[in-house]
Amino acid sequence: AAIKKYQFDIQVKNVSRLCHAKPIVTVNGRYPGPTIYAREGDRVLVNVTNHAQYNLSIHWHGLKQYRNGWADGPAYITQCPIQTGGSYTYDFNITGQRGTLWWHAHILWLRATVYGAIVIMPKVGTPFPFPQPAREFEVILGEWWNNDVEEIEKQGNQMGLPPNMSDAHTINGKPGPLFPCSEKHTYAIEVEKGKTYLLRIINAALNDELFFAIAGHNFTVVEVDAVYTKPFSTKSILIGPGQTTNVLVHANNVPSRYFMATRTFMDAPIPVDNKTATAILQYKGIPNTVIPSLPHQLPASNDSAFALSYNKKLKSLNTVQYPANVPLKVDRNLFFTIGLDKNPCPTCVNGTRLLASLNNISFVMPQTALLQAHYFDIKGVFKTDFPDQPLRPFNYTGAPLTANLGTSTGTRISKVAFNSTVEIVVQDTNLLTVESHPFHLHGYNFFVVGTGVGNFDPSKDPANYNLVDPIERNTIGVPTGGWVAIRFRADNPGVWFFHCHLELHTGWGLKTAFVVEDGPGEDQTVLPPPKDLPAC
Ligand code: C2O
Repeated sequence: AAIKKYQFDIQVKNVSRLCHAKPIVTVNGRYPGPTIYAREGDRVLVNVTNHAQYNLSIHWHGLKQYRNGWADGPAYITQCPIQTGGSYTYDFNITGQRGTLWWHAHILWLRATVYGAIVIMPKVGTPFPFPQPAREFEVILGEWWNNDVEEIEKQGNQMGLPPNMSDAHTINGKPGPLFPCSEKHTYAIEVEKGKTYLLRIINAALNDELFFAIAGHNFTVVEVDAVYTKPFSTKSILIGPGQTTNVLVHANNVPSRYFMATRTFMDAPIPVDNKTATAILQYKGIPNTVIPSLPHQLPASNDSAFALSYNKKLKSLNTVQYPANVPLKVDRNLFFTIGLDKNPCPTCVNGTRLLASLNNISFVMPQTALLQAHYFDIKGVFKTDFPDQPLRPFNYTGAPLTANLGTSTGTRISKVAFNSTVEIVVQDTNLLTVESHPFHLHGYNFFVVGTGVGNFDPSKDPANYNLVDPIERNTIGVPTGGWVAIRFRADNPGVWFFHCHLELHTGWGLKTAFVVEDGPGEDQTVLPPPKDLPAC
């Protein structure tokens, strides 16, 4: 195993897209930021020095950070942010994971521009469980706003104004030639006829689940969220914010130029943008003057049938070498409902603001990091009385839109016993609106044992769970007006964030955390904090 060292300088830089130039927060002046390359078993040290006017922290999305929440990064959950002028070294081991993950700023909406890929190669001598590709490409899907993103965040969260949607999607920070002033902001890859390529696709968008396809080519999905899958062929992928997907592309079509494109998946009655980003797949020897064709197989924005069937095809590889260790017995059953309410807000423009909630509790960010409060036993920072079940059960997907269950606010989280097995059923509800929500758990992967539309039925649905080869991942979409059931073994002590990865909803409070207690063994406790851990 090696030690990999990186220096991340957080700097403001002028960047222009869509004919608009504006200062954005970057790492080392790059947008997207640098890729972290490592191997399974390596130790990674990233020194982050903050030269920007915003305090921030960086999260290594999908890395388990065993006993080491200090390196996880969500601001006010595991650490206080790195102040302007300050620095902090994230120091972590990559154990038992290989594949594509990513890193991003984890405070306010700064991850709009502060993000990059993490590529973890298997141990030396361990091949991929699929054909060795001729080359690999990182494909990061994102969003571009012409206006200042932090201003937009404030409008939505502090002023109660409706959300402002981005002006373009991007592929590796580039919207592609269908947007104005964007010819030179087009990402392109070159392939040779007959060869196979690996695309490491990341959804870094703030607020959109996305479809992604390449004209004239199918994908073979081989990995999601750094877990190998049973390979399957598909004309398009579906990828939620936070998720990663590795696909093989066989360059087997007529040598030409082909567009790859990404489009929003949104099956709720919410206005959908028209901001499809494109990039180019170009066969070697084909001149740039050839006009590429568009991927007509890209599903329509409201194609929930495609989304459902795509998600059903995702299964863990589940071989002797890569087993799916699904917890068969559950020690703790949790049932979380997603709600969205209008609540009074005297300082807001219309007198109300939106509050999103789990079990009708809208999470309030503490002033001290929860992990510090837990480790040093600082009282009064959080309460561990988050309810295992909703306080007032009702017809979740059939209730009138006006039903108001009185959302309360608080820093309330759940305490979980070390090594216990936990099942969480997350239920979308009809309060105000139904919408798909990509939920992300820090510190763990989980198995997606079941999903369905309508109300979860505890007397019937568990009988249909897949406990053999369910997909294992760190972020999963709760279907619109439906539910998803996930299981994990709580073997990683610490405080771990659980939240919707749509930044808009996170800001409205759609989040909570788990405090997983220390185990009895000396090597089952939270490690001591590093000396340079930022103070609040
Ligand atoms: Cu990718 Cu808590 O986030």
